Amino acid sequence: MKIKVIAVDGYASTGKSTLSKRLADALGFTYIDTGFMYRAVSYFAQKNGFLKEDSIQEEALKEALHKTSFSWIKGKSSNVMLFNGSSYGDELRTLEVSSWVSKIAGFGFVRDHLVYQQRILSKLRSVVMDGRDIGTVVFPEADFKFFLVADAEVRAKRRFDELKAKGENVVYKDILKNVIDRDHQDSTRLISPLKKAQDALEIDTTNVSIETALEQMFSKINSKS
Ligand code: DC
Repeated sequence: MKIKVIAVDGYASTGKSTLSKRLADALGFTYIDTGFMYRAVSYFAQKNGFLKEDSIQEEALKEALHKTSFSWIKGKSSNVMLFNGSSYGDELRTLEVSSWVSKIAGFGFVRDHLVYQQRILSKLRSVVMDGRDIGTVVFPEADFKFFLVADAEVRAKRRFDELKAKGENVVYKDILKNVIDRDHQDSTRLISPLKKAQDALEIDTTNVSIETALEQMFSKINSKS
């Protein structure tokens, strides 16, 4: 079977990862969360002391990044992505990591390193890959492209509920600000900004359930397969 790529791009907390995972499970493809990769690099930068107040030690990060890599192991129900051989979870989803990640993702050397690895990861298997630049930069020739949008307030509420459920002590207006700031930084950065690929199907998840959004994706896939 020909290796296939499905690109799922869009704004923060629009349901990209839930939908991509469901899609990958149903199709037997591997799910690749590229946000995880940018978050892992931000966490790595934080833990290594490369982030100080409002500045980033760019050269030190650049040098250290070249010695890092991503890999996979088979998990109980799905594949688990590893960074430098270790798995990560909620520590990558904190508000602190979220507040640095768009700045880190704006560096060309970070993007080059991660895009290179994303292309390698999908050489041997069919993938559903979610992110911000998958359909425009990483795989402009992807077999299917989706672009997810939703109202900022609704997205912030989803994120707030998610973090609260995990026991994080968060304030709704801080989350809303982070969502709006990240949208702005992700879509206005000079390198690979977040934008809809011309041939992507846009899905607005503001008032739509995961099941309905999934149906829209399948209907697109089935109409072309
Ligand atoms: O999908 P996420 O919210 O976990 O992504 C975290 C950040 O990583 C997002 O604000 C921008 C950056 N990112 C990116 O620039 N390009 C990608 N392909 C994926 C994520």
